[in-house]
Amino acid sequence: MHIVVVCGTNRKGALSRQLATEVVESYRRRDAHVDLLDMAELPVSALHEDAYKEPAAEVTALVERFLKSDGVVFIVPEYNGSYPGVLKLFTDMLPYPEGFDSRPCAFIGLAAGQFHGLRAVEHYQGVAGYRNAHVYPRRLFIGNSYSQFVDGKLGDDELTKRLHGQAEGFLKFVEAVKADPA
Ligand SMILES: Cc1cc2nc3c(=O)[nH]c(=O)nc-3n(C[C@H](O)[C@H](O)[C@H](O)COP(=O)(O)O)c2cc1C
Repeated sequence: MHIVVVCGTNRKGALSRQLATEVVESYRRRDAHVDLLDMAELPVSALHEDAYKEPAAEVTALVERFLKSDGVVFIVPEYNGSYPGVLKLFTDMLPYPEGFDSRPCAFIGLAAGQFHGLRAVEHYQGVAGYRNAHVYPRRLFIGNSYSQFVDGKLGDDELTKRLHGQAEGFLKFVEAVKADPA
């Protein structure tokens, strides 16, 4: 099983990256092959006006890594009540329809504030759903991000349990979709 974990921001020092690393470990523990695709890897050339038609080799390489996935876990930080622009830019680099079509996707929201990334995830789910992804219904939301991490990992046992529970459930979901693709 090949899982791609997307860190949905390129921000230096982003807590999403710490969370993404913990999520990667959770899937590896369950014997999945995991690739961490960090939006910090998206080159500046992705902003070029030609990028939609003739993307740079570095952009194509990232897109190919995404397309290899059996399932994708999106770590979606909340920026201005939505998801980061860099994640939309990467999404717009994905080919149509195979970028999302029938691809299993799971979502984790992370926010400093009281809305726990709900809006960010729901906005991004709207895009994935529009593009006919298979959306895994059990999402994870984490608020008060700046108090959640101890030595780079979630300090809250209940959230940690939910993170592992989502990984377990999503792998079954991906397997089911693979066995009987729609
Ligand atoms: C440009 C920007 C906008 C943000 N807007 C919000 C927001 O609307 N609501 C919120 O709760 N936190 C907001 N935050 C804080 C992030 O949610 C917080 O840093 C969280 O840890 C996830 O982002 P990170 O992975 O960059 O750390 C914002 C952060 C940035 C950099």
